Amino acid sequence: MIPRPNDDNRIKIAPSILSANLARLAEQVQEVEAAGADRIHVDVMDGRFVPNITFGPVLVKWLRPVTGLPLETHLMIHDPDAFVDAFAEAGSTSLIVHAEGALHLNRTIQRIKEAGLKAGVAINPATPAVMLDEILPDLDLVLVMTVNPGFGGQSFIRGTLKKIQEVRRKIDAVNPACELEVDGGIDATTAPEVVAAGARVLVAGSSIYGAPDGPTAGLRRLAGSLGL
Ligand code: DX5
Ligand code: ZN
Repeated sequence: MIPRPNDDNRIKIAPSILSANLARLAEQVQEVEAAGADRIHVDVMDGRFVPNITFGPVLVKWLRPVTGLPLETHLMIHDPDAFVDAFAEAGSTSLIVHAEGALHLNRTIQRIKEAGLKAGVAINPATPAVMLDEILPDLDLVLVMTVNPGFGGQSFIRGTLKKIQEVRRKIDAVNPACELEVDGGIDATTAPEVVAAGARVLVAGSSIYGAPDGPTAGLRRLAGSLGL
C-alpha cells in the first residue's frame, strides 16, 4: 500500500464494501483508494451457500468506472460456474470461489482463467488446508477464511492461524507466486498475527468502513499496525 514498486511480497489491503455505506458507494471506494488501498473486495452472497444475500454482477459493472483499483470478487455462492462470464463482462479483476461450493473445482478455475481473470479458492474455517493440494498449482490466490462467511463484523477465529501457516508452507513449496489472503475479523490487533503466520493480502470490512473516525483513519490504523 505504501508505494514500493517491484515489491510483490509487500502486504496488501483489500477493503470489503460489505461494511460500506452503499448509498455513497462510489465516494466510499474512492476514499479508500486515496488512502492507499490495494484492491476492492466485493462480497457476493446467494442466500444458499451463506445465510445472507448481497450483490450481483450489476454492482461490479457500476463500480468499474469509479475506481482504478482491481475489483476482487469473492463468490460465496453455490455453482459459481454459472456466473463466471457475467462477472467477467461486468469488470471483475479476479474471482474467488469456495472449495466447498464448487463441485468441479478444477473446471471452475479453468473457466475463470479462460475468461481472462485471476482465479482464487477460498476455504472455510472448518475446511482443512489439504483440500487445496490438487488445485494449488493452478491458483493465483488462496483465501483462508478467518470467520464463517456470511456477515461482516464477526470475531476472528484464532484456530485459523495454524492453517494460515500450513497454507503458507504449501504455497512456498508448490506455487510461490500464489497470493495468500485472509478474510474476517481483521483489525489492528489481528493483522500483525495473520501476517506473522504468512498472510500477504488482508481483507477488512468493519475495521475500515465501520471505523468511528472514518475509513481513511481505519485503513491507516490497520496499515500502521503492520508498520506500513
Ligand atoms: C464475510 C466476508 C468478508 C467480510 C469481512 O463473509 O467474506 O469479506 O466483509 O468483514 P469484517 O472485516 O468485518 O470481518
Ligand atoms: Zn469476503
